[in-house]
Amino acid sequence: MPVAIITGASKGLGRALAEALAERGWNLVLDARTPQVLEDTVAALAAYGTRVAALPGDVTDAGHRAELVAAAWRLGGVDLLVSNASALGAEPLVRLEELPLDGLRRALEVNAVAALGLVQEALPLLRSAAAGAVVTVSSDAAAEAYETWGGYGASKAALDQLAAVLAAEEPGLRVWAVDPGDMATDLYAAAVPDDDGPRPDPADVVPALLRLLDERPASGRYAAPALLEGRR
Ligand SMILES: NC(=O)c1ccc[n+]([C@@H]2O[C@H](COP(=O)([O-])OP(=O)(O)OC[C@H]3O[C@@H](n4cnc5c(N)ncnc54)[C@H](OP(=O)(O)O)[C@@H]3O)[C@@H](O)[C@H]2O)c1
Repeated sequence: MPVAIITGASKGLGRALAEALAERGWNLVLDARTPQVLEDTVAALAAYGTRVAALPGDVTDAGHRAELVAAAWRLGGVDLLVSNASALGAEPLVRLEELPLDGLRRALEVNAVAALGLVQEALPLLRSAAAGAVVTVSSDAAAEAYETWGGYGASKAALDQLAAVLAAEEPGLRVWAVDPGDMATDLYAAAVPDDDGPRPDPADVVPALLRLLDERPASGRYAAPALLEGRR
């Protein structure tokens, strides 16, 4: 069975994707920093009967990234790498004049540097997979100038460009940057605590990611709403 590494998979979009892939028979390597929440996710995934390696840790830790890839190797390889774990840089978000530079550094480190580090670690296994693919979870804040989203958006723009160049350098892989659109998750609540308007559940966005896996369009940047057209 195929193997996916999904970072930030204890809740939100990462967990919803893990459940959908487990339902399809994928074996999984998952991480998040908070062990108990990750354990709860693994317990929920047990119903699908696939193999799940859950490793608590921080994606910015190179040793942890190596452990994620080693765990995938033990499960058979890496068919899919999903860089989903993310940092906002400030919680709640603030205007650039107030953005702590250490917050910007953290957003860049988690969202871009760690994502590349994990790709570098996994590349040999991705290249030897029959249909290796990388998904980087982006945001419309990478492309639009929303007040207070500058640091996070800059880090996601960096991630988008890494994905685009990786796609050019690795024509044998698919590399998809995906803007999932707004979702009702802890990350959004931490970003904008006063904004409790209705937003899609992350599980409603997962079919967009599954469409990429099913149809394997060209590498590039995709937005979930377009991928979801005619899919739900
Ligand atoms: N929610 C939205 O409206 C929205 C919109 C556009 C894009 N996105 C993107 O969608 C992706 C998923 O976000 P979400 O909304 O589903 O967030 P979420 O529900 O808050 O989940 C984030 C996950 O990442 C883990 N995580 C965070 N930092 C980590 C780190 N340094 N190392 C390892 N794991 C880490 C979290 O667990 P721990 O905290 O225990 O580590 C959790 O499992 C992110 O890339 C986000 O930028 C979200």
